Amino acid sequence: MAGRLQDKVALITGGSRGIGAAIAAAMGREGASVVISARKQEGLEKAREQMAAEGIEDLYIRPCHIGRSDDIADLLDWCVQTVGTPTILVNNAATNPYFGPLLDISEAQWDKTFEVNLKGYLHMTQATVKAMKNAQVAGSIINISSISGLSAAPLQGAYGMTKAALVSMTKTLAVELGPSNIRVNAIAPGLVATRFSSVLVETPEIVEHYNQRTALNRYATPDEIAGMAVYLASEESSFVTGQTYAVDGGYSIT
Ligand SMILES: NC(=O)c1ccc[n+]([C@@H]2O[C@H](COP(=O)([O-])OP(=O)(O)OC[C@H]3O[C@@H](n4cnc5c(N)ncnc54)[C@H](OP(=O)(O)O)[C@@H]3O)[C@@H](O)[C@H]2O)c1
Repeated sequence: MAGRLQDKVALITGGSRGIGAAIAAAMGREGASVVISARKQEGLEKAREQMAAEGIEDLYIRPCHIGRSDDIADLLDWCVQTVGTPTILVNNAATNPYFGPLLDISEAQWDKTFEVNLKGYLHMTQATVKAMKNAQVAGSIINISSISGLSAAPLQGAYGMTKAALVSMTKTLAVELGPSNIRVNAIAPGLVATRFSSVLVETPEIVEHYNQRTALNRYATPDEIAGMAVYLASEESSFVTGQTYAVDGGYSIT
């Protein structure tokens, strides 16, 4: 039986571990050709090995720092020539270099957060949309936001601001790219056990706070975010654009 993403090429930033790797594996299982990128070659190779062991063979790796325009241009050229024009982009790689009161953030930490989480997402989208339009293909772009962008984000203020801005970016691009048959949506995960969130997940008081506010009373595994990404990439969501979906066990409704 053909998968839901047969004949699609999915480009996933931050695909070497955590949520990005789970999305890559889920899209691979649905028949997409998958390109994962991240800064470190070693992590990418490890992810490729793990996915090959799962039977996902149509998977390609390419290092790319999404804060660097040259890296992004190289990734897109390479992807188009080697794998094909991407029809799915998952903007997933992000950073959070500062944990503390918003007013105490340093300028360097502020700049880094906005450079990667916003400028990186925009530059990846610009380069990918250019390739999609050149090849005249329909596309689906998925921005990984966060529940930190949907409500107050104490101690993660600048990070939360970038994640909130992605909700706006998603709406605007959905309107601007709709006529080109390119859909743009976002996912706002709740707390998910990954390296990125290890400080949170390993602090019992923080876990208790999250669990108490979460209807399902627990945090998520990366695989639990991947299903929404597959849906948004597939034809099943052909009339869905400009939306942000909280995949948070009910955190944002309380
Ligand atoms: N975990 C959570 O609780 C949670 C909750 C809500 C939203 N999110 C969002 O989910 C997304 C993925 O987070 P995660 O928890 O899966 O993180 P993770 O496990 O730490 O994985 C991050 C991935 O991004 C790559 N990466 C980091 N900085 C990069 C850069 N500048 N350029 C390119 N690649 C980069 C990493 O590889 P390299 O180190 O090799 O670059 C890695 O592949 C992020 O957008 C995050 O904000 C996470």
